[in-house]
Amino acid sequence: MEDAFYITTPIYYVNASPHIGHAYTTIVADVLARYHRLHGFRTFFTTGTDEHGDKIAEAAQKAGVTPKEYADRISAQFRALWPELAVTNDYFIRTTDANHVDTVRRILQKVHDAGDIYFGQYEGFYCVGCERFYMEKELVDGKCPDHQTAPEYRKESNYFFRMGKYQKWLVDHIEENPDFIRPERYRNEALAFLREPLEDLCISRPKSRLAWGITLPFDENYVTYVWFDALINYVTAVGYPDGENFRTFWPAAEHLIAKDILKPHGIYWSTMLKAAGIEPYRHLNVHGYWNVDQSKMSKSVGNVVKPLDLKDKYGLDPFRYFLLRDMVFGLDSSFSEEAFVQRINSDLANDLGNLVSRTMTMAMKYGNGKVPAPAAAVAEDRLLRETAARTVNEVEACFADLGFHKALIAIWEFINVTNKYIVEREPWLLAKDPANRARLETILYNLLEVLRITAVLISPFMPGSASKIQEQIGIANAAGQNFDTIREWGALPPGNELKRGESLFPRVEIKTEASPEPAKAEVPPIKPEIAYEEFEKVDLRAAKVLAAEMVPKSNKLIRLTVEIDGERQIVAGIGKDYKPAELVGKTIVVVANLKPAKLMGVESHGMLLATDTEQGLTLLGFDRPPKTGAKIR
Ligand code: MSP
Repeated sequence: MEDAFYITTPIYYVNASPHIGHAYTTIVADVLARYHRLHGFRTFFTTGTDEHGDKIAEAAQKAGVTPKEYADRISAQFRALWPELAVTNDYFIRTTDANHVDTVRRILQKVHDAGDIYFGQYEGFYCVGCERFYMEKELVDGKCPDHQTAPEYRKESNYFFRMGKYQKWLVDHIEENPDFIRPERYRNEALAFLREPLEDLCISRPKSRLAWGITLPFDENYVTYVWFDALINYVTAVGYPDGENFRTFWPAAEHLIAKDILKPHGIYWSTMLKAAGIEPYRHLNVHGYWNVDQSKMSKSVGNVVKPLDLKDKYGLDPFRYFLLRDMVFGLDSSFSEEAFVQRINSDLANDLGNLVSRTMTMAMKYGNGKVPAPAAAVAEDRLLRETAARTVNEVEACFADLGFHKALIAIWEFINVTNKYIVEREPWLLAKDPANRARLETILYNLLEVLRITAVLISPFMPGSASKIQEQIGIANAAGQNFDTIREWGALPPGNELKRGESLFPRVEIKTEASPEPAKAEVPPIKPEIAYEEFEKVDLRAAKVLAAEMVPKSNKLIRLTVEIDGERQIVAGIGKDYKPAELVGKTIVVVANLKPAKLMGVESHGMLLATDTEQGLTLLGFDRPPKTGAKIR
């Protein structure tokens, strides 16, 4: 039988519109679903909305509509958002769906029949925001630690689930299955909570106070507590108890949540399943919180980040990439638009975007628009292949550990090794001599093969960009591409028609308040016009610094040995801004045909180029090192 993979997100409350936190969890779930599909797993992915309870009833009342009308409106926003974010959920559940209502009632009856639900008295502090009772010692200054509001004191007769009865079983289960709750910090948090006696859980609300819920099957006067209702969505979605999906996907369930709802999932849900005679889920995967510019996101502060705004402004794939790259799964992260733009410009436009566009430009120009046939590989080619194979393994190891940011780092190392391979192999020079044809075609083939592999590796994260790359390299049926085909080097068929596409990731102009554009008046006046022929007389070259030392008795002059067409000596007045040792190894720009001159008795055969900054001089350099001696045009 094929392996089964079942991934769930929390079902979101319909009292607020979707924000970046909801988008993160759901996109992570999507990345995992796509990744498992690429590994041939039968995959089921569900998300949805949580619509009952005081919180929703209150929000609806404020809005002047019925709870159902209110839930319909917000639930529709969530449902419509996911396709916009390329989320490929197989199911969207609402707790007001008839099949869910039936499932909740069926499970309640089962647990009641087994004697694990009883009628009793309850009094205590209740936080409507959390939808739960608090023990006095859990409150901070008498307030709910999450909502900073004073809870209500409530005294009611209610139904209780004998949760305490399953405490020992749960502790043993967590201890025997060390990654049942992961990462470890959250497992420890759950175990710490279980060190105290586990109280029974109040699972009903009298209709006299709250009618917006699922009626208990054994008492018409009560509705189900919203968490007991909501958690059951995870089995409703796969058709508990008789559905084929339930047989296929349970207990292969991977729940994905943030740390805010660890307790209901780790403790309530696990014990509910046990009491209902359903096997425990496989893993509870818990991530941290997105804050915004270091502070908690909140409507009242007005810093709620809306996923569609970011998608519209910067594009969907950059948004998905950023979310997965900038959060270490399990830890909190702070969202900032500047950090996002930087990632776009460096990782996407510069590294990946350039790799694709350079490869495609060269392949179109030198390869007649078709994938060339490779000749025998040499050492550097083998190194590239090994890097590819290692990267695939590393990405798999990272996924097994939920290390999405690490998987992306590994992919980007591979991209950058390939960018270096281009710089070092210099295909544009080989193209000048027909005798190098076979070598040139091998290099181009290797680059296109890297694009094929990279497209699959990035596709769970950036599905749109992956398809665009696949189209460019002529893989008509991208569905045939998966982790098996990228383990094998050389699967790209020579002769495939190439199709150059638009730039994948346009750079984003950065304008920050911290670096305003310099006032026009500060720019020195431009010198009178010259003809190109005059400029051409100046022979500018890339020069590698081989050695540097201070000129004796000077506090400013440095004597540099640089390589251009051979070694030569130049003297430069940069000793206040640079230490000689810092210069060695740099590639700088030198006027190579300047008449030699003597500075403090030392002959200089050229002049390096530099400019002023507020921190002193800066040397002209290159963001991609050219070969020493290269002409600068
Ligand atoms: N309805 C319950 C869940 C029931 S599941 C059976 C609920 N809903 S919620 O709308 O409040 O969603 C909480 C979840 O949204 C978090 O667990 C997390 O997945 C996501 N996030 C909400 N805010 C978040 C951040 N600021 N950062 C990251 N994720 C967050 O709780």
